[in-house]
Amino acid sequence: MTAAPFKDRARVDAYDKVRGTTQYAADIQFPRMLYAMTVPSHVAKGRMTAIVTDAAMQVPGVVRILTPTDFPPPPEPTGEDGPPPPPPTLEMKIAYRGQPIALVLAETLEAAVQGAEAIRQRFADAPFSSVIDSEGSEREPVEDWVAGNSEQAMAGAVTTIEASYESPTQHHNPIELLTTTAVWADGRLTIYECSQGVNVTKGSVAAALRLDPAIVDVKSAYIGGGFGQKGLPQRQTALVAQAAILTGRPVKLVLPRGQIFHVATYRPNSRHKVQIGVDATGKMIAANYHAEHEQSRTGFFSPAEYHESPIRMYGIENYRGTAANIRIDRQAPGYMRAPHPQASCFAFESAVDELAYKLGRDPVAFRIENDTQIDHKTGNPLSSRFLNECLIEGARRFGWEKRSDAPGSMKAADGTQIGWGVAAGCYPSMMPPAIATLRINANGSTRFATSGHEMGQGIRTAIAAILIEGLDISTDKLEVVIGDTTAAPQHMTAGSWGTAGAIPGAAKAVERMRAAVAELLEGRQVAGNLHQQLASVRRPFLQVEVSELGPGQNADAIAALRQGGFVVAGPEYPEFTTMSYIAHFVEVRIEPRTRRIRMPRVVSIADCGRVVSPRTAGSQIRGGVVWAFSAALREATEIDRRFGGYLNNDLADYVVAVNADIGEIDVGFVDKPDPLANSVGLKGLGEVAMVGASAAITNAVFHATGKRLRELPIRIEHLL
Ligand code: MOS
Repeated sequence: MTAAPFKDRARVDAYDKVRGTTQYAADIQFPRMLYAMTVPSHVAKGRMTAIVTDAAMQVPGVVRILTPTDFPPPPEPTGEDGPPPPPPTLEMKIAYRGQPIALVLAETLEAAVQGAEAIRQRFADAPFSSVIDSEGSEREPVEDWVAGNSEQAMAGAVTTIEASYESPTQHHNPIELLTTTAVWADGRLTIYECSQGVNVTKGSVAAALRLDPAIVDVKSAYIGGGFGQKGLPQRQTALVAQAAILTGRPVKLVLPRGQIFHVATYRPNSRHKVQIGVDATGKMIAANYHAEHEQSRTGFFSPAEYHESPIRMYGIENYRGTAANIRIDRQAPGYMRAPHPQASCFAFESAVDELAYKLGRDPVAFRIENDTQIDHKTGNPLSSRFLNECLIEGARRFGWEKRSDAPGSMKAADGTQIGWGVAAGCYPSMMPPAIATLRINANGSTRFATSGHEMGQGIRTAIAAILIEGLDISTDKLEVVIGDTTAAPQHMTAGSWGTAGAIPGAAKAVERMRAAVAELLEGRQVAGNLHQQLASVRRPFLQVEVSELGPGQNADAIAALRQGGFVVAGPEYPEFTTMSYIAHFVEVRIEPRTRRIRMPRVVSIADCGRVVSPRTAGSQIRGGVVWAFSAALREATEIDRRFGGYLNNDLADYVVAVNADIGEIDVGFVDKPDPLANSVGLKGLGEVAMVGASAAITNAVFHATGKRLRELPIRIEHLL
């Protein structure tokens, strides 16, 4: 491939989406389909002693009610490494409020809802802990992240800073609700679901229901926003699948948002204590950082990962990162857009800003001077790092040199306080293996099947760009098949490795196809595009199959991919570490009387290696920045300490950013290939887009007001 920048292209699925013809999982309909509704537990902990279903069965239209006895017991843990155990199905044991205890099946959605409301539950309930500070919460330290000797280095520091920060419980709220439709026919189970990992869904349903995975197909062609909520197996999938098997009819469940709040993963409440030390030259030489977060009794979302980005942000040679779970009785937290660094880089980049002020340094210059090309955790080089380029270009576009340093010194004529803030972010660049099939037909159509999930981030557009730029094919009959276990082995799409998992394989398929065409034509000059060339030599089609590995991976990774395994390489490799980077520059304006904070402009410059799809890459950053605003100034899940569960569990009460809050978001890319990351030189973007942006906003609020606010979300009352 050449290293020339990729062209800006419209989304390949834009017209269908605008016309409403794109089929999302909830759009699917089948004849004789039953509608399902889950029944949530009323208590947070204990054991169910009875489920009374008589009244529910009397509701006209209710066909059947599934209870724990309709499911096999959970599989025994094997003790081997491998895919995580499937989520439990229906159980008498209750671990959190809202846990599904029954599934009502009916001829209509209304009857299913009415039936679910008519179920009576009885419990022997137990005391529970709803938040970190509740009685009965259990602290569980996890492994440290260490570079050098931070205690010794801190003792020698000339200037130090220490501060604590907090990020609240926050829930993903994709517009698309969690949904599953299952069809059992001719000995096969087909599941239509919004999933970021259809192979994981397949494996977990098979394990939960004791089915041969070979008879399970899962399809998720389009996802209406994933953000990590749809990456791990969903508890309701096996419930709906079992309902289809037991009734012999297609079954559909669309979970109401209020239930999603109670069963889906979420961003846990986390607390961060950061200490940084600087030497006489203004170099950050030491950091001690303790992070802890709320965790379910059995959850595995690791607090250690809060350190993965801060440890590599600057050339801090001595770093000690400690972390702990605080186990309580709610459902498990999990991955949510920029999962750990959203919180940890809010904390760390706030602390770096505080330090810059304490030293009297410009926060951009201070960051630039603390750059590194080394991953001090491993001692290896960072494979490509252009964070300083991001900072310099961002400062130029933003007009940073016009900033007056003193907090509270920039005011509009009407008294509006203006604040300019900066912060940086980084996120691991990783790569799963892929298997892809490319077929060009003489009839004008092309089909490319590979691993990947389209959540709106634009992976279909990026794949199409590779195929269209590399091959002379008709663009109107190009079919990209992803998110389908029947088309190609599907690796989970998450952690910003979507493009790395699909694009290098697509590029290899293009090369292989060009070679196959050259071989077929044996030097003959044949007129027309590839379809016409095939037609003129009377070949109905040409097909190539390729596989692509992450750096250092071998055939085992391909075998694991075929088995539905989780086989991501990076960001640490034997010789180097690969990260993506971003710098955000933010202007906030704070209304003098209401203290309402708005963000009229942002400049965000990213180093994500090569940019394959400029249009959708830009949108990823805009989305990340909008969410960072929301996370910093709006979003907090209110936990019900009396009963467990959540109070603001709908979009009326869970407040998110709106258009009026945010003005222009100017996006730029360094767009330099990382030759070590993969053959195309891309590093991944979706997660890093958000990292650091919340800190840039709160740093701007400090610059506007002189108030350092260390607990998110910042609300109007904090500025009164
Ligand atoms: Mo991402 S939060 O790993 O989908």
